[in-house]
Amino acid sequence: MQLSIKHTGERPEGVRNIFLVKETSLLKDFGFNNEALAYVESRVEAKEKLITIQNYNIVYYVRVVADDEYNNKGYEALRKDGATIYSSLKKDKQSGVCIYDLIGDKAATLALNEGVALSSYAFDKYKTDADEEQVKELSIWVASAAINQGDLDELRRLTNAVFITRDLVNEPVSTLDVEELSDRISELGAIHGFDVDIFNKAKLESLKFGGLLGVNKGSIDPPAFHILEWKPESTINEKPVVLVGKGVVFDTGGINLKTPPGSLDDMKADMGGAASVVGAMVAVASNKLPMHVIGLIPATDNRPGGNAIVPGDILTMHNGKTVEVLNTDAEGRLILADALSYSKNYEPELVIDLATLTGSAVMALGQYATVGMGTASDEVFQQLQEAGNCVYERVVQFPFWDEYGDMIKSDIADIKNLGAREAGAITAGKFLSHFVDSPWIHLDIAGPAFVKKDDSYRGSGASGVGVRMLYAFLKNKC
Ligand code: BES
Ligand code: ZN
Ligand code: ZN
Repeated sequence: MQLSIKHTGERPEGVRNIFLVKETSLLKDFGFNNEALAYVESRVEAKEKLITIQNYNIVYYVRVVADDEYNNKGYEALRKDGATIYSSLKKDKQSGVCIYDLIGDKAATLALNEGVALSSYAFDKYKTDADEEQVKELSIWVASAAINQGDLDELRRLTNAVFITRDLVNEPVSTLDVEELSDRISELGAIHGFDVDIFNKAKLESLKFGGLLGVNKGSIDPPAFHILEWKPESTINEKPVVLVGKGVVFDTGGINLKTPPGSLDDMKADMGGAASVVGAMVAVASNKLPMHVIGLIPATDNRPGGNAIVPGDILTMHNGKTVEVLNTDAEGRLILADALSYSKNYEPELVIDLATLTGSAVMALGQYATVGMGTASDEVFQQLQEAGNCVYERVVQFPFWDEYGDMIKSDIADIKNLGAREAGAITAGKFLSHFVDSPWIHLDIAGPAFVKKDDSYRGSGASGVGVRMLYAFLKNKC
């Protein structure tokens, strides 16, 4: 979708109109006659918030913003109404819409705008019978005294970053193998101005990335480790923030092969963490945040094969610790461990990893939240959670007590890659903690990263979760 978002002081012609209002009487100035106003009033009486007025082919949407909606929950309702409006535009093959902010509120207007913009995504490149007349361009105009073009450019770039993440996740492994992922990351670095360095298999062997190489043993494609770096001259943080993303381009489970029905269906999305890190880097770089941010992405597929690792194998990881592999399907933690260990080279202020790591996280919270845990201070956790609440990519902090760490002790190696059936998301996090010394937050996005059921402006399939939250967090403002 080609998306443009432009500020306007005029009334663009030939587009649909959305009015954000507190007082419906203001609509008079926009040509609403008494009959139309009476209708709007009756809908308001009936507690309807999003009102559609249709007169032949002229359609107006009126959204009444109540006094108690100027908060995170209210803004989320506006994003969702943006999605409802987008469905209506799509159905009627409309490619333009103008939002009139008659309440003078920046956050509310941007939220509605964001809902429309994020809803315009579709992964339809493989549909050969795509309706010829399907709208491929969307122009959003915004008439608001509270907003300038810079705000809208930022929103468009952020939306674009979310779409990049969704595209990467939705692409099947037959197209997006490790090599293609590397190519796309390099291309995005060149476009948006962040540096990209990629370690090949030989380099990983010399650096003793035992976890990543171990998982890769069953594969016919070599692994790769990507380093993305954004460090503008205006950088304000002395030490970088490092983002680490799980890049398993397909997870069959390996020798502990996943068993159908269902368990393999969405495993092209097992690089969701990697894709969110790429999207976050694009968002940060394209909006030129004055922050030193590094992205680390270990990538491989996880397959059975003649030489694949098997239960009982012991791997020596990048930091020298030994791991008894008791389940080859617990591969994400093995590749993340090396990346976390490598992050020490940057002496980071904070490390955040994102990973579709456990079914346990899905069972605990479903698609509506990310499981978080780690060693960062309460203050930093709170800041991240606030950013998450703001963009409605919410994080629930799980306990990280020592007792959970006891569950992954091994009899013959330093630790094992498998805990018990209980608390699987936490024991996976405890495993990772053996490889990171810096303040660190682990985000298990297995629930929200990829969903079957259409979820408003998040759509179905890849949601792009993490990008908007990380951007809000890094910008320290939402
Ligand atoms: N990629 C999966 C986790 C996952 C499951 C993501 C469902 C999205 C949806 C991960 O590699 C995995 O297989 N985890 C196992 C670990 C277990 C063997 C300890 C799990 O959670 O079942
Ligand atoms: Zn797995
Ligand atoms: Zn996995």
